[in-house]
Amino acid sequence: MKICVMPGDGIGKEITPQAVRVLQALGIKAEYEEAPVGGEGYRASGHPLPEASLKLAKESDAILFGAIGDFSLDTLPRELRPEQAILGLRRELNLFANFRPALVYPELVHASTMKEEVISGLDLLIVRELTGDIYFGQPRAIHTLPNGEREGYDTMRYKESEIIRVAHVAFQAAQKRSKRLCSVDKANVLETMQLWREVVTAVAKEYPDVKVEHMYVDNASMQLLKNPKQFDVILTGNMFGDILSDAASMLTGSIGMLPSASLNEKNFGLYEPIHGSAPDIAGKNLANPLATILSAAMMLRYSFAMGAEADHIEAAVKKVLAQGYRTGDINEPGAKLVGTKEMGDAVIVAL
Ligand code: IPM
Ligand code: MG
Repeated sequence: MKICVMPGDGIGKEITPQAVRVLQALGIKAEYEEAPVGGEGYRASGHPLPEASLKLAKESDAILFGAIGDFSLDTLPRELRPEQAILGLRRELNLFANFRPALVYPELVHASTMKEEVISGLDLLIVRELTGDIYFGQPRAIHTLPNGEREGYDTMRYKESEIIRVAHVAFQAAQKRSKRLCSVDKANVLETMQLWREVVTAVAKEYPDVKVEHMYVDNASMQLLKNPKQFDVILTGNMFGDILSDAASMLTGSIGMLPSASLNEKNFGLYEPIHGSAPDIAGKNLANPLATILSAAMMLRYSFAMGAEADHIEAAVKKVLAQGYRTGDINEPGAKLVGTKEMGDAVIVAL
């Protein structure tokens, strides 16, 4: 197995090594090759997704990704900004199905700003479409109108085939969970989303065992805060999924706990924590590596069919939380406050 490791920017460089250490401690026989992306990629070779990095990604069996984002490069033209690395990988590798679980660990109930009864026991999965929608739709531009005023525009668009394939992924995920799926759209206002609802409704007929519900995104954002446990699998488009998954992460206490998997048709995947590069705490051994370690577990499960090994990692994470180890983002009085590397050590000991 060849795993392409893309640490990226900021805390990415601190958290990915911990996940690699955990995989090694587990005895996973793999070759790890590192490639620069994001601001690092730009500095190394003038592009956020250097050709050599993309090539390595394509030749590997899975990608372990850290985080990208660097404020000092935000003034670059859009195509050179760090974010283009992850958007380019998603597009080039056709990683259309994004799994974003949000799980509340009993030990972290108090780290959430939400009331305990609202979130305790929460376990939901957002399936976000990742290669279409307004993120990639053409045309898009900032142009100047005849009167000299500038106008910016983007295009929200989905082809039936794009909706169908991600819907199947989500329904199949629902079949393996509690057989409930909520498709989130904005069919009351947008043509694209009316099509989304029609197509999801049609695909649903192939999964009679899954109970389907459709919800407008504004209501879904409200329901997610009001009563998140009503959800099991949430299926949604690229932009709504971006927003709802950040909201869902906060139910769990810290965005530093949430892993993700982005898969293509062949189950080739990119695995990354859903948080960003956190430049404010970068380089200080403060970042929480657990989301990346849990992303490595998802890699074993989805790309390498090593479910038992993935279970071990997840159990080890639960154990360190039960033992009271906490990074700053999830710290509480009486806990054992540790740094990034020490949290990695604790997981390895628990393994
Ligand atoms: C995410 C991020 C990305 C997105 C950014 C970094 C381009 O917010 O993975 O959710 O918007 O998809
Ligand atoms: Mg996001």
